[in-house]
This record gives sequence, structure tokens and C-alpha cells, in this order.
Amino acid sequence: MNLVLMGLPGAGKGTQAEKIVEKYGIPHISTGDMFRAAMKEGTELGLKAKSFMDQGALVPDEVTIGIVRERLSKEDCQKGFLLDGFPRTVPQAEALEDILTELNKKIDYVINIDVDQEILMERLTGRRICKSCGATYHLVFNPPSKEGTCDRCGGELYQRADDNAETVNNRLQVNIEQSKPLLDFYETKGYLKNINGQQDIDKVFVDVDQLLGSLT
Ligand code: AP5
Repeated sequence: MNLVLMGLPGAGKGTQAEKIVEKYGIPHISTGDMFRAAMKEGTELGLKAKSFMDQGALVPDEVTIGIVRERLSKEDCQKGFLLDGFPRTVPQAEALEDILTELNKKIDYVINIDVDQEILMERLTGRRICKSCGATYHLVFNPPSKEGTCDRCGGELYQRADDNAETVNNRLQVNIEQSKPLLDFYETKGYLKNINGQQDIDKVFVDVDQLLGSLT
């Protein structure tokens, strides 16, 4: 199963990706996670990405396309993949088509998690993530049983550097601008499936799962 997960920042891509990966066992390829890992390691890629991410801007297409091309060529993607947060621009989507043609693969679905932009600020500023296993929580909508501690592994929870109100504003503006032409691109290709992301987390997954059931 070859999937692309789309949605504005805070729509619930990472949250649903965790559930899809757990059930279907395909690799989760999040460009945001890849950039954050590179920043943590202090690599050249990390340094390059940091200056854009800190402002809520997009990392340049040529950098982003390069890391996705490399990742999709890895052995574990033979059984499928879940792209999360890529593509984010039409040139990235066109490059992905070329990469998949080279690899003799094709997208099954582009799942767009649809959420009104008004509620995204609250979702993002209240998000907390586990330092050890990466599980995602929300102070109000999905709180851990014990404050500051991951239910799954007992790790410490932290707030992402770009989840402050000012950077979130920029991220939303940039992504809203890019998303319409991208949605049109995938609508025209017939890959696009919209999912209502304003339901409970588990209910969103019921809808995603129902869709994916048609592929198994
Ligand atoms: P990235 O890490 O991809 O961030 P993003 O797109 O801004 O998306 P988020 O991870 O913030 O949100 P999400 O949709 O995963 O929401 P989540 O499930 O956590 O990218 C970061 C940066 O990297 C970009 O700004 C850019 O600089 C760079 N970058 C990455 N990819 C790039 C690309 N392709 N090109 C160029 N640059 C790129 O949920 C959010 C919160 O809401 C959580 O607290 C969660 O618990 C809660 N929640 C989730 N679902 C629900 C629900 N149904 N109801 C209530 N609460 C919910």
C-alpha cells in the first residue's frame, strides 16, 4: 500500500500515521521527522533545514526531494510506504511522480485530513511529544495519564520548537497557500480521498481504516 497523508499543520497527520503504521506495518516517512532527526545529529542537512523550520517556512524543494528519493529507494519500502508531510508543493508532487515511475510504483491514495484552520492553532500549541518514542499527545484533546510522562514508554514529554504561536501562524499561512494547488493536482489524478479530521482521533482512524480496507 503506497500512501500520501496530507493536511494542514496540526490536522492530525502524525497521530493517524502512528495508527496506520501499527495496523498495516508500512514504513512511516515524515519529512518533518527526518529534518528534526538531522538537526539533533547536527548534520549539514539539519543545519540547512533549521533556518527554515525555525521561521515556519518550507525547506527548499531540491533538499526535500533529495531526501525522499533516497528514503523511498530503501528495501523496506518494497512493501509500501506512508509519506507524511510530503509532497507539500506541486513541484514536489511532480518529482514524486517521477521517482515512483523510476521505482515502478504508483500511489494508491492521497488521504487529506480536512480540518478548519481556526482550530489548528489550539491543537498545535497544546501538542506534547515523547522524547523517547515520539508518541503524540495534547494537553486537552489527548492528555497523558500522568502529566509530562508518556503512557506508552514512560518517556519525558516536550513541546516542539516550532509549536509557539508566532511560528505556528507562519506555518499555517505558508501551508494554506500551497495546499490548494496540491489538492487540485491530486484530485485531477484521481488519487484524492478527503477525511473529516474534526472528529475524535479514534473516529478519524475508523474512516481512514475503512478506506484502506479496500486495498487489502
Ligand atoms: P512537519 O513536522 O511535517 O509539521 P506540520 O506539517 O506542520 O504538521 P504537524 O506535525 O505539526 O501536524 P500533524 O498534522 O502531524 O498533527 P499531529 O498529529 O501531531 O513539518 C515541520 C516543518 O518541516 C515544516 O514547517 C517545514 O519547515 C519542514 N518540512 C517538512 N516537510 C516539508 C516538505 N515536504 N517541504 C518543505 N518543508 C518541509 O496533531 C497535532 C495535535 O492535535 C496533537 O497534539 C494531537 O494530539 C492533536 N490531535 C490530532 N488529531 C486530533 C483530533 N482528531 N482531535 C483533537 N486533537 C487532535
